[in-house]
Amino acid sequence: MAAEASNGEELNGHEVNGLTPDGTASGGTPEGEGVPWGTFLAEAVHRFERAGLEAAASDARRIIEEVGGYRDPDGRASRPFESMLEELATVRGVAAFDTMVARRLAGEPVQYVLGNWSFRTLDLFVDRRVLIPRPETEQVVEAALKRLPQDRAAAPLVVDLGTGSGAIALSVATEVPTTQVWATDVSSEALAVARANLAGAGRVAARVRLAEGDWFDALPADLRGRVDLLIANPPYIGEQEELPASVVEWEPTGALISGPDGTEALVRVIDEAPHWLTAGGTLVLEMASPQVDPMIERVAATGFVAIDRIVDLAGLDRGLVADWPRADSAEAAEGAAKADTVDRDRNAADADVGDGDDAANAEAGHRDGR
Ligand SMILES: C[S@@+](CC[C@H](N)C(=O)[O-])C[C@H]1O[C@@H](n2cnc3c(N)ncnc32)[C@H](O)[C@@H]1O
Repeated sequence: MAAEASNGEELNGHEVNGLTPDGTASGGTPEGEGVPWGTFLAEAVHRFERAGLEAAASDARRIIEEVGGYRDPDGRASRPFESMLEELATVRGVAAFDTMVARRLAGEPVQYVLGNWSFRTLDLFVDRRVLIPRPETEQVVEAALKRLPQDRAAAPLVVDLGTGSGAIALSVATEVPTTQVWATDVSSEALAVARANLAGAGRVAARVRLAEGDWFDALPADLRGRVDLLIANPPYIGEQEELPASVVEWEPTGALISGPDGTEALVRVIDEAPHWLTAGGTLVLEMASPQVDPMIERVAATGFVAIDRIVDLAGLDRGLVADWPRADSAEAAEGAAKADTVDRDRNAADADVGDGDDAANAEAGHRDGR
């Protein structure tokens, strides 16, 4: 068991010794009296404010919660926060506090510093190998769950392309216990994080499979035409767009940037989705606000029906939901014809780009042949 901070010399020289809870100088902590977590909280708030961090108070609180063992493994508070603040800090806890405060002061996002972040009902492990799951994506999952065809399929087949931490795949699997979920990513590092989250998910993990590869190439061919829900939060930032330093310097580029205007991955997923969705299956995509109208036009031109936009909590367009026509509908034949046209156009474009480039043509053929 870790010793109380007051029992050793570990706290000697610690900045906390010179602070009262409001962060002003106090003349030090009397020897042998112990230092409560509340004093460390005040120190962290003070240092974060001095460094100009926007969310100084909440970042400090989250760090104190983490190092003070405030939550149980299910993420529930183990006791009132105020009473935790009166408890004496442990030596091990203070060492972790020092490391985390230093990392946060160096600009690292608080989510990576903590090593976990909540997403809908989940508490996910996150580090620099994956995008930090965003609240906007929680809304996108909400929209997807509303369309999940629970009435038609006993065990809906769901695909989460570009799963990162596994946030979307694990949420769907957790919240709809009948689903079978495939989660893919091109990044083996991201999949390692998703695998760790699966390991922590208990029995739900038995219904989630991970696969590595470039978008649909990761999926086994026998899923073609069988997917009930295809959901993706692909990279959608343009190459020239400016991003906050906390994003550019810390989050993986491959999770953010997608071609000159950010729509490369979105277009790829929309164009190939008809081959993988079952009749009546649903496509759900997250994207940036200005991309929503052009992508709605694209899914309509591809033959999708029942197209809705997803609006996030800030009132901004954040994505789209669209159904592939049901087999017995008038739109079905039209949809199939449009998808063929899209395929032909794409193959022609691939041929133009890759003229004389055998490797590119072979890759395009591989994609189309699945
Ligand atoms: C914006 S992040 C989304 C992560 C996670 N789904 C979420 O919502 O938090 C995009 C993810 O797509 C993955 N990705 C990028 N290019 C890909 C490709 N060509 N094929 C599959 N996944 C890709 C990235 O590695 C990253 O994990």
